[in-house]
Amino acid sequence: MKKTLAEKLCAIDNAGLRRALKTAESFPGKEICFDGKQFLNFSSNNYLGLAMHPRVRRAAARAVEEFGAGGTSSRLLGGSLAVHQELEKKLADFKHAESALVFPSGYQANVGIVSTLIGSGDCVIMDQLNHASLWDGAKLSGARIFVYRHADSNSLETVLKRAEKYARKLVITDSVFSMDGDCAPLAEIAALARQYGAWSMIDEAHATGVFGKTGAGLAEECGVEGMIDIVMGTLSKALGSQGGFICGPRELTDYIVNRGRPFIYSTSLAPAACAAALEAINIIREEPERRTKLLDMARYLRQKLGAPPAGFVSPIIAHIIGPVDATTRTAQHLWDNGIYAPAIRPPTVPEGECRLRFSLTSDHSIADIDTLMSVILLSHS
Ligand SMILES: Cc1ncc(COP(=O)(O)O)c(C=O)c1O
Repeated sequence: MKKTLAEKLCAIDNAGLRRALKTAESFPGKEICFDGKQFLNFSSNNYLGLAMHPRVRRAAARAVEEFGAGGTSSRLLGGSLAVHQELEKKLADFKHAESALVFPSGYQANVGIVSTLIGSGDCVIMDQLNHASLWDGAKLSGARIFVYRHADSNSLETVLKRAEKYARKLVITDSVFSMDGDCAPLAEIAALARQYGAWSMIDEAHATGVFGKTGAGLAEECGVEGMIDIVMGTLSKALGSQGGFICGPRELTDYIVNRGRPFIYSTSLAPAACAAALEAINIIREEPERRTKLLDMARYLRQKLGAPPAGFVSPIIAHIIGPVDATTRTAQHLWDNGIYAPAIRPPTVPEGECRLRFSLTSDHSIADIDTLMSVILLSHS
């Protein structure tokens, strides 16, 4: 007999994996308020502190005045506004690409791109730790899915050899991995994709605004922008807004406009989100010191935690504990001492690899990190 939803929830509960929504009573900045209590927040993707930036908020408010609160319809049915086009032009310029296309979310962008570009008879080659939205797009596409070992270009090459008979191959990797905070070897991946006649796609959700001379992302930092075919990103993390995007050749974005179901059958991105992202890009270009400070602090926290040296250090620092109960206990200890960094458990991470995931923002200070460290050390005593 099939289990009822109540029975399934009970099993989730018994495994210590039940999740519940917790309502924040303040803006989730470097501090966050729950149940009337203030916490130091290490769980936000607002890496550059732009979601609350006065210029970003003013731009959003002006867009609401001018264009209204919502997109009102699909882009193809009258929901395409000047502010969408302005943002797409700016994103293409920011990412040094020919063309860009925005989506209501990064999740939708990934599902839309992958499921539209490849189909049955094609293959997709995935890093094992790619984001869930990429996996969902890959499954929906009907293409054969190959998996290579995490961030391992030798394993990628082995898979590319096995996949040689497929005329259309798409290699996909996150550039910064969302739960581990490590970075993909982009130059090697791009070169291998070229060598084996595959398209390459990267998800720069956690890299946009954080890496690169102009803040464009890890591809810019690694000097491989010209070698990657498709770049996806989100407006919802360092840009402090909401929405997703892709960048690439004009024929790619034109094709998605014509055939990408997650793009076609959804209301356009809200004008305020577009205007906020436009202003955020201006600030990212004008104030490189935000990302410098962010990454300096990430290095500081990694060193305090005794993390191994890494080529590129991102603002996500994973503190792997392992078992569910030990991780939940540590998260509770942090909570009791005014630190918010919830336990990350399966299915978000593999079994036995539960962790605390600290994400930093440029609003944090060294003193905040020292506070976090003193609480962590207390949990060991
Ligand atoms: C690597 C990665 N890709 C895509 C997404 C989805 O982006 P969004 O939050 O804009 O839907 C996320 C966000 O959780 C992510 O971490």
